[in-house]
Amino acid sequence: DLSEGSKIHVTSPSNIAIVKYWGKTGMQIPLNPSVSFSLKHSITDTSISYTFHPGQENISFRLIFAGKENTTFKKKTEVFFKRILQIFPWLVNFHLNIESKNTFPHSSGIASSASSYAALAICLSKIHQQITGQQLSEQQISNVARLGSGSACRSIYGGWNSWGKSKLKQSSNMHAIHLQDNIHPSFTNIQDSILIVSEDQKKVSSTLGHQLMEGHPYREGRIQQANEHTNKLFTILKTGDWNAFVTLAETEALSLHALMMSSTPNYTLLLPNSLNIVQQIRIFREQNNIPVCFTIDAGPNIHVLYPAANKKQVQEFIHNNLMSYCVQGNLIHDELGDGPAEI
Ligand code: PMV
Repeated sequence: DLSEGSKIHVTSPSNIAIVKYWGKTGMQIPLNPSVSFSLKHSITDTSISYTFHPGQENISFRLIFAGKENTTFKKKTEVFFKRILQIFPWLVNFHLNIESKNTFPHSSGIASSASSYAALAICLSKIHQQITGQQLSEQQISNVARLGSGSACRSIYGGWNSWGKSKLKQSSNMHAIHLQDNIHPSFTNIQDSILIVSEDQKKVSSTLGHQLMEGHPYREGRIQQANEHTNKLFTILKTGDWNAFVTLAETEALSLHALMMSSTPNYTLLLPNSLNIVQQIRIFREQNNIPVCFTIDAGPNIHVLYPAANKKQVQEFIHNNLMSYCVQGNLIHDELGDGPAEI
């Protein structure tokens, strides 16, 4: 009996891109393919209870984030619901009570949009199944998540994922695909220690950053580079070539920030301590011959990537040499994870 209401509860991971999605056209269509892996500990926990409420004019829902009503998130969710009304037409006949929280601190500078929209998309697809009896495919769920936040479409799977048209036959701009074939064992438990350089809200949103790719002088070059990197990374992940991985990951991270620095208007998200960490990682790598590298999202925080086999040495190095560049004690040792789960 649907009028009684029912509850869905899922967790969904954040992800970190190695080949970065930057720039989009139309309704969340990426300019270039991207590749990422899902994290294990940085996750969003979302539950939705729903009750039958026919004849509404608008989509009706209540959103509690980290125990409080949040008007900013509520507005963003409203935009998202309007975009997906064609896929879930029943939305106008139900009232949703959404409760969401992140396992990572909101102030940690880790983007929560990927894990949040992935969790929402999965919850909605489960409600869809209960109401209509139809099960959405993973690709359809990924497509729904993409309409919330581009990078979210890669968070509906665990492990390594790719979004955007590439040389892979199943690849698509509409949804991400799971890269399950022949990932080298050393990449199936890749480590990611996230160093929080600043907890401040970033001054320039990713939405604006994507828009600035429109008339960007390096647009075509960037699209070509990302395509080449995507194809190359597919091979690296199979062969386990960590040296090639280090070079590719760092070039991608710095290219992303170079695009911000060379757009009109220009902007910088990296901070002096971001660059201090980058420099220390290079020195440590050269001195110890360990394949440790950095990647960076659209913010100042540094993700330190390394094989699980080098966990002890690298974490010792981080604790001894890098903590003074971070907001006090703010460090998250994360790693590749298995993806969303139903609770
Ligand atoms: O999903 P968005 O619109 O928040 O864009 C995220 C873009 C990057 O995080 C910088 C790169 C990526 O591919 O995740």
